[in-house]
Amino acid sequence: MATPPKTFRIKSFGCQMNVYDGERMAEMLGAEGMRAADDGEDAELVVLNTCHIREKAAEKAYSDVGRLRREDGSRPLIALAGCVAQAEGAEAQRRTSMIDMVVGPQAYHRLPQMVAEAAAGRRVVDTDLPALTKFNALPARRRTGPSAFLTVQEGCDKFCTYCVVPYTRGAEISRPFASIVAEARALVDGGAREITLLGQNVNAWSDGDRCLDALIRALDRLDGLERIRYTTSHPMDMSDALIAAHGEVAKLMPYLHLPVQSGSDRILKAMNRSHDAEGYVRLIERFRAARPDIAISGDFIVGFPGESEADFEATLRIVDAVRYAAAYSFKYSPRPGTPAAAMDDQVSLEVMDERLQRLQARIAEHSQAFNRASVGRSTRILIDRKGRRPGQMIGKSPWLQSVHVEAEAEIGAMLDVTLVSAGPNSLGGVLAHRQAAA
Ligand code: 5AD
Ligand code: SF4
Repeated sequence: MATPPKTFRIKSFGCQMNVYDGERMAEMLGAEGMRAADDGEDAELVVLNTCHIREKAAEKAYSDVGRLRREDGSRPLIALAGCVAQAEGAEAQRRTSMIDMVVGPQAYHRLPQMVAEAAAGRRVVDTDLPALTKFNALPARRRTGPSAFLTVQEGCDKFCTYCVVPYTRGAEISRPFASIVAEARALVDGGAREITLLGQNVNAWSDGDRCLDALIRALDRLDGLERIRYTTSHPMDMSDALIAAHGEVAKLMPYLHLPVQSGSDRILKAMNRSHDAEGYVRLIERFRAARPDIAISGDFIVGFPGESEADFEATLRIVDAVRYAAAYSFKYSPRPGTPAAAMDDQVSLEVMDERLQRLQARIAEHSQAFNRASVGRSTRILIDRKGRRPGQMIGKSPWLQSVHVEAEAEIGAMLDVTLVSAGPNSLGGVLAHRQAAA
């Protein structure tokens, strides 16, 4: 393994921030003269960019590593990256000799040097958390698709009792205003029409006395940028100014991902969420007052330790009260080292399965109702991929719905459409001018 690798493959799991990190690692390796392996081609370097949020994350990562052994017994250079790398550290290389590099989420700007060392036969670990230094060390952004991610904030100080993020991503930290605006400019120059600002607590972003609303207003002035989104927010950091921005900033899309996790005050308290159900619902009402058509999405955990049937029913009630356009729901998964993992009264898997099904059915009712209520609207979609049928393209509505349309259009085009039908997972649209002509 003395020659440095010429081709790489990066596999990102988990959240959008991992997708962003994966793109930046790819750009960096590209700047070093490596190229992404083609589909089906054997890469000489494989980076597993892992997620630690749920289930048997570490076990899954080790078995993914094991599968990289080729039929002839050889294997690529292997880097374990992301949150499992952060959590496991040097332990990863004690568990298996197949991992050459362990690189945490704050250290991946050092990947090229690590690859060089690993190619020379040394095993390397870097899971330091030197906040933000990586951003200055990464190469400038180049071409992107029409919809780009931009990490503006990382880490979490909230310490929800179920969550590993404060341990794997460290304390809350914001990137400086100027470097974010410069990266946004480069993304737009590279083809982005839409930018989603990312952070584990994105609405806690600040630089001096500027808060997220000020950043959004600054990006609103970028020529060529059409749409701004942000995710994920915490109810505790929500400001009046950010709510007001939803009624005032034209490019800010009418969509808010604001996880509540549970509808039971007792469980919210045990989760250390710092808000109750009623406070959350009132917050949503203020967003709706500022922007009546806003689509609300959320996250839920079923089967948190001690969750009774009555607690779970309170969760179903908050789903009805908010009428989510979309929501993600998960079975509680004990994370090593978190307070909830040591709590009494863990809920059985059967009960969790059954509650998850009921919750998902209830969420689906509301998201389908939201989609049906969109039919008849005239709106704009951002084309992001080809449809399955010839001549069909798929784009995103402002409310993040997938819309199928018959149109000759490039990826990245913005099309005026009328929404004419709603299926369970997507909508049908027709081009506005075509409809007018018919
Ligand atoms: N078990 C199940 N779901 C979890 N989440 C975070 N930690 C856990 C856990 N231990 C969910 C939360 C969060 C989303 C990103 O993942 O709903 O909002
Ligand atoms: Fe995890 Fe809670 Fe922080 Fe979100 S706010 S990242 S759920 S600890």
